[in-house]
Amino acid sequence: MGQGMGASASFDEGRAQEIIAGLAQLEGAMLPMLHALQEAFGYLDQRVVPMVAQALNVSRAEVHGVITFYHDFRDAPAGRHVLQICRAESCQAMGCEALVQRLRMAHRLEPGQTSANGALTIENVYCLGHCALSPAALLDGEPLGRLDEARIDALVLDIMGARA
Ligand code: FES
Repeated sequence: MGQGMGASASFDEGRAQEIIAGLAQLEGAMLPMLHALQEAFGYLDQRVVPMVAQALNVSRAEVHGVITFYHDFRDAPAGRHVLQICRAESCQAMGCEALVQRLRMAHRLEPGQTSANGALTIENVYCLGHCALSPAALLDGEPLGRLDEARIDALVLDIMGARA
């Protein structure tokens, strides 16, 4: 589904507490909890770390470790559009690194960061299950395949211009 990934609610401590309390009894609650929080707010605010730690009776370092270990979590709100570039094996073999380099050199966009105008966030993902379409990516959740530098350029210009 291509719903606007950047159009999430702003952080609300009460709402976060509700989500945490609702999942606290679950076996292995930390990941579902973090996913639910990210779903609700679009990112994991720093303030959820002590809240989750307290609810699950674990250290803040442990919660922080889980957030940084998994690539799906972001620690800042996303831009209005999110381009997730696959950097796993098949896409590597088909040249995804050149695309990342293109984003970096031609557009000053870096994985894990959002453009200064807030229009576009670039993220790394590791196999989308679209290996036959390598190099593959998702734009706002919609699959893109057989990307090359020209398509990356067109897409970025489109987003940074008219669609932003
Ligand atoms: S390795 Fe990129 S989609 Fe599978």
